[in-house]
Amino acid sequence: MTDAQAISDHWGKGDVYSRILEAMKLAGIDPGSVTIEQLAPVDHFHARGFPATVELADALPIKDGDRLVDIGCGIGGPARYLAKRFQCHVEGIDITAPFVDAANKLTALVGMEDEVKFRHGDGQKLPYDDEEFDGGYTQHVTMNVPDRNVFFAESFRVLKPGAFFALTEHGLGEVGDPHHPVPWSEDGSGAYLMRPEDTVALLRNAGFRDIDVTDTGEKYLQGYKAVIKLVEDGDAPVFGTHILLGKQAPQIVRNAARNIEERRTHPVQIVCFKPK
Ligand SMILES: C[S@@+](CC[C@H](N)C(=O)[O-])C[C@H]1O[C@@H](n2cnc3c(N)ncnc32)[C@H](O)[C@@H]1O
Repeated sequence: MTDAQAISDHWGKGDVYSRILEAMKLAGIDPGSVTIEQLAPVDHFHARGFPATVELADALPIKDGDRLVDIGCGIGGPARYLAKRFQCHVEGIDITAPFVDAANKLTALVGMEDEVKFRHGDGQKLPYDDEEFDGGYTQHVTMNVPDRNVFFAESFRVLKPGAFFALTEHGLGEVGDPHHPVPWSEDGSGAYLMRPEDTVALLRNAGFRDIDVTDTGEKYLQGYKAVIKLVEDGDAPVFGTHILLGKQAPQIVRNAARNIEERRTHPVQIVCFKPK
């Protein structure tokens, strides 16, 4: 099996869309009238979920009519949110085919097919022309990327001069050696974490400038702790990301929190620019 297939299988196998639909019905959400706000507990599939997307969006200079690329778009919540909030267009690409299928079907459910499109592919080989996009972002994807040089070079290539590029991830902490399973890996396979300073150096090598790094560790930790408490109190929502994380979800969340506390991981949000 290729690394790409193993990473895809890790994230989503089978009919992901049907699983989401079933959970929606269990939670009393009518798929015929569902809103992007109702989808948010599931489709912002990264640490802290929807609030983290909002904070990232607040930091980005997105304009009405922009075309953005979402690399590793998952099931598309961030793309739909940005398209609605900024009246912009978003193209998403993801290595996990069942996620792309779910992303497109959820987009059709909320009637946003004209603004947001998703396709299957690898962020290390983007199927777009040079200088197509006004901005790009990749949320919690790079932990699984074997060659960040190629990934960042591709991101740089498809952006217009002056465009922004944003990245959020669990970087490697000072202590290293994270406990597994974590959201991005069951046992350490397919995991390519890097220290934030090394990621910054690679972004600089790719040509990006004005690189701004925010430490998001404490906020992620509080987010994970809130989820752990809900689970312990028996109050976990029916419609939540455990639908995507599977049976090991409670352990995955506990490890993600513990890794931050023990400085094994170092979560960051990075915003940078392609020079004009
Ligand atoms: C934690 S999910 C994040 C999804 C989405 N960015 C979000 O925030 O809702 C990680 C995603 O990265 C995707 N991914 C991992 N490696 C990739 C690659 N080389 N190219 C494209 N997508 C990739 C996975 O398939 C998965 O959908």
